[in-house]
Amino acid sequence: MNMNPNNDIAVRVEKLEKKFGDFTAVDRISFEVKKGEIFGFLGPNGAGKSTTIRMLCGILTPTSGIGNVSGYDINRQQELIKQNIGYMSQKFSLYEDLTVEENIDFYSGIYKVPKKVRKAREDWIIKMAGIEAFRSHLTGTLSGGWKQRLALGCALIHEPKIIFLDEPTSGIDPIARNNFWKLIKEMAKQGVTVFVTTHYMDEAQNCDRLAFIYRGDIIAIGTPEGLKAECMKEDVLRISVPNPEEWIEKLEKLESVKEVALFGTVLHGIVKDGRQATPAITKLFAQEGIKDYSIEKIKASLEDVFVSLIEFYDEAGGFCGLRPS
Ligand SMILES: Nc1ncnc2c1ncn2[C@@H]1O[C@H](COP(=O)(O)OP(=O)(O)OP(=O)(O)O)[C@@H](O)[C@H]1O
Ligand SMILES: [Mg+2]
Repeated sequence: MNMNPNNDIAVRVEKLEKKFGDFTAVDRISFEVKKGEIFGFLGPNGAGKSTTIRMLCGILTPTSGIGNVSGYDINRQQELIKQNIGYMSQKFSLYEDLTVEENIDFYSGIYKVPKKVRKAREDWIIKMAGIEAFRSHLTGTLSGGWKQRLALGCALIHEPKIIFLDEPTSGIDPIARNNFWKLIKEMAKQGVTVFVTTHYMDEAQNCDRLAFIYRGDIIAIGTPEGLKAECMKEDVLRISVPNPEEWIEKLEKLESVKEVALFGTVLHGIVKDGRQATPAITKLFAQEGIKDYSIEKIKASLEDVFVSLIEFYDEAGGFCGLRPS
């Protein structure tokens, strides 16, 4: 593998593996992230997202495999990685009994921001995060969304070229999430590489490229549009029916239906062919005396792609998506 840091690659890993005892949390994954890219890492709970991030951030030593972050070796230069990257962990640590300003100052110290530029950097971070009004407030009194912005600011105080965000927006409201993403995009525009994990598919849509990780394995990788266009081999039907959750199992028993999932108040059915499945579903509803329903073929969402890829993986075992471009 070319470990030359002077190219346009910010992260490169090959056959990266992490075992905890006999359990394989990350199973020999390989991928690259380009400089300035917003790279989304998606996967269900326990898939191995945080474990991967921790290895990339120099916090966990891989069991095997090689990798390079910002030109530093993840096996041998962990301290250099820690100093040169930004990391906002899933349970980010801010000191609740310190003020906003004191927290930022604390992180300036950790990251050894030179005294001469410290004040200017701290002011810049406060402005960037939009938290001027809370400067002298105790951090514990801030709402979740503002804490998240402060945590991002603290992770950026030393001007890292790459930042790792582990579920940065979990538990905050949609407006705060939206504002947070504006910040992320702004950083990317300035050339910062952003590696972000999320469970929210609408957020994933904001990423330049995505990797889906499942049971420690990367099952697909590509742009959001590419994944939707190329990975979705089936049709998606939007099925509106009263008490939708009661129909999932029955619909899945139909030969032409592969998978059914609840999306708010409607069902999405992943089917081999909409032209075959629609009459079969219509027949089932008729048999059960249901008249108040609708079925329409829709464009696959990222969530549909995800559900379909997992199904495919469980059946066939192995990579099923686009390779990195
Ligand atoms: N220190 C550890 N010791 C043992 N097992 C661990 C350890 N850290 C993680 N694991 C296991 O490794 C698997 C992957 O965990 P990880 O935290 O990477 O998942 P994740 O994709 O980040 O999930 P979530 O979406 O819930 O944050 C899980 O089964 C977890 O229980
Ligand atoms: Mg996690």
